[in-house]
Amino acid sequence: MSRFQSLVDEAIAAIDSAADLSSLNELRPRLVGKKSDLAGASRSLGAMDPDERKVAGQELNECRDVVQAHLDTRVDVLASEARKVQLEAERMDLTELVGGMRRGHYHLITQARDRLEDIFTGMGFTVAEGPEVETAWYNFEALNIPDWHPARGAFDTIFVNLGEPEEVMLRSHTSPVQIRTMESQKPPIYIVAPGRTFRTDAADATHLPAFNQIEGLVIDRGITFGDLAGTIDSFVKAFFGQEVKTRLRPSYFPFTEPSAEVDISLPDGSWLELAGCGMLHPNVLRNCGLDPDEWQGFAFGFGIDRLASMRYQLDDIRELVNSDVRFLSQF
Ligand code: PHE
Repeated sequence: MSRFQSLVDEAIAAIDSAADLSSLNELRPRLVGKKSDLAGASRSLGAMDPDERKVAGQELNECRDVVQAHLDTRVDVLASEARKVQLEAERMDLTELVGGMRRGHYHLITQARDRLEDIFTGMGFTVAEGPEVETAWYNFEALNIPDWHPARGAFDTIFVNLGEPEEVMLRSHTSPVQIRTMESQKPPIYIVAPGRTFRTDAADATHLPAFNQIEGLVIDRGITFGDLAGTIDSFVKAFFGQEVKTRLRPSYFPFTEPSAEVDISLPDGSWLELAGCGMLHPNVLRNCGLDPDEWQGFAFGFGIDRLASMRYQLDDIRELVNSDVRFLSQF
């Protein structure tokens, strides 16, 4: 048994009693540093005679190694314990349930618009688009509505402060897309163009100043009024159901001739106006560089918000834009 055994025992007891790394580090100078008891013992070697000093020095080295090894082991143990505690504290609990997330859905108008596109693409139409801000040429002139024409009143809108006065405006119908399509595509043309439209109407149960329409345009050879009536009837039956009847009532639009309103039959026997339509006016074809003797066509414009409020039997079309989730989540 080494004469230094008691120093070793004390050091080991001290090491074992350190509860964490920082208290162990505080102890360290007293265990292995220059001020440690072992260092003190090695200074006392100088007083010994050479033979004894050699033996004692060797013993002392072994003791120092034992203490150092114990210290190293203890450091490892405490460090890995500390890491475990830290990991546990920082662990993300991936099993946690965050109170029932509800799945959203498209707005009623978007649903109606998607359905309309589906029905018309099923009938062989493609989908076209145009800008919401238009010039007088597209919104009026090319559609055979010159600036003196009283029909400008029916399509009154909000003008944008750009260019000449009353030259740039929010489009008051989707009919400008007819013109843009004829300019960019050669007939035969079969397109529908859904989109937002604007008028100076005050909001009430059946009107909104910003609303949505879907325009239809067909140009081909030998197109007749019968094609128009058949297309509208097939569309209405696909959207509302086979039992719903349609009727065309004579009307007037500057860009179609003859023109008609589309009415659909309601369960109570009355009729409801849903759309405007007609055979393309020769002036409109000419404005787009097409020869009316070669090409004929028809156009129609439905109010998407009206279609949606009919289909879901809303009492007030303003519900569509009030953003009341209690209302919208029903659909
Ligand atoms: N643009 C017309 C409106 O908004 C509807 C319409 C479209 C009529 C196409 C005839 C042909 O009232």
